[in-house]
Amino acid sequence: MGPTAVVTGVGGALPPRVVTNHELAQRLDTSDEWIRTRTGIRQRHVVEAGTSTGDLATEAGSRAMKQAGLDSVDLVVVATTTPDRLCPATAPTVASRMGLVGASAFDVSAVCSGFVYALQTATTAIAAGTAESAVVIGAESFSTLLDPEDRSTVAIFGDGAGALALRAGDRSEDGAVLDFDTGSDGSLRDLITVPGGGAEQRASGRPPAIGDTYFRMEGQPVFKHAVRQMSETSLKVLGTSGWAVEEVDWFVGHQANMRILRAVAGRLGIDSDRAVSNIERVGNTAAASIPLALSDSAAEGRLGRGDRVLLAAFGGGATWGAATLTWPELPPL
Ligand code: UT7
Repeated sequence: MGPTAVVTGVGGALPPRVVTNHELAQRLDTSDEWIRTRTGIRQRHVVEAGTSTGDLATEAGSRAMKQAGLDSVDLVVVATTTPDRLCPATAPTVASRMGLVGASAFDVSAVCSGFVYALQTATTAIAAGTAESAVVIGAESFSTLLDPEDRSTVAIFGDGAGALALRAGDRSEDGAVLDFDTGSDGSLRDLITVPGGGAEQRASGRPPAIGDTYFRMEGQPVFKHAVRQMSETSLKVLGTSGWAVEEVDWFVGHQANMRILRAVAGRLGIDSDRAVSNIERVGNTAAASIPLALSDSAAEGRLGRGDRVLLAAFGGGATWGAATLTWPELPPL
């Protein structure tokens, strides 16, 4: 087997402003009890004026590079649903701000599955020899996309970023990114969508209808698809890696909803103490959620050298994806 990507650093970033469920309940028809019992979320971080996705991405990416001891990389991939501008992509600006002028840099748009897709893209580039090193970032200012009056989305989503630094290495090394399974079903595109503001609406010649530039989600069907697809994609990638479910040390699922994470872990037969979760503190941070969960777990010392890690996500598109990797020994930051 040829080279693969090896993880050499991890980083996270959260905007300082915390919005608790109690604070939300003061302005929306909701309650701390409803949000906690239906989602497992107690609070989320949100950006304030002057901060956006690129800032969070730069902070998380710089932390990952610092831990890796890297001054330069060949490739920067940013997974995001909330790019700083419709055009150009956020990644080139992030790369410049990280001192990486000249690096290949582009965004990946796969909503909550974006980080798995971005990691697959960077790993494939490293395996093909077109990049020797990369930083893969998931970053969102998701709160900027939400209808402030929509309790069903405001209660769930939060802002943040997470990143992994990668270098070329061998599959037998601790930290090796091993296998992927990804897929999509575009017939489900209306379940998670921002219908206005894109080419489809502009080409229609009609201005966006009121509310059409806000994010919309049909929670119940998304919940069911998420449980099914995150379970199936996990089993597929475990099969490719030849790992039994019992051999997985950590399941790091997209932090969509605590009930979704428990249901997927239950279907797979993974004990809840092996399922990583930070959703209580950060909410659903879409493309940022998996790398932010990795960053938080690493900072807490939960992920140990050589541990077998399974990632799985489901998101708008619909898209889904899973990956297997082992965890490296990382220097303390
Ligand atoms: O990250 C990308 C993928 N996203 C996901 O995976 C999210 C998947 N979906 C979910 O997590 C859940 O479906 C939600 C958390 C969005 C909703 O939970 P649910 O248990 O599916 O609730 P529901 O949509 O069936 O709504 C039940 C009730 C409704 O009221 P009625 O129609 O029964 O009167 C909602 O209007 O709860 C109401 N509701 C709320 N009530 C208080 C919805 N949001 C809230 C809220 N506070 N924040």
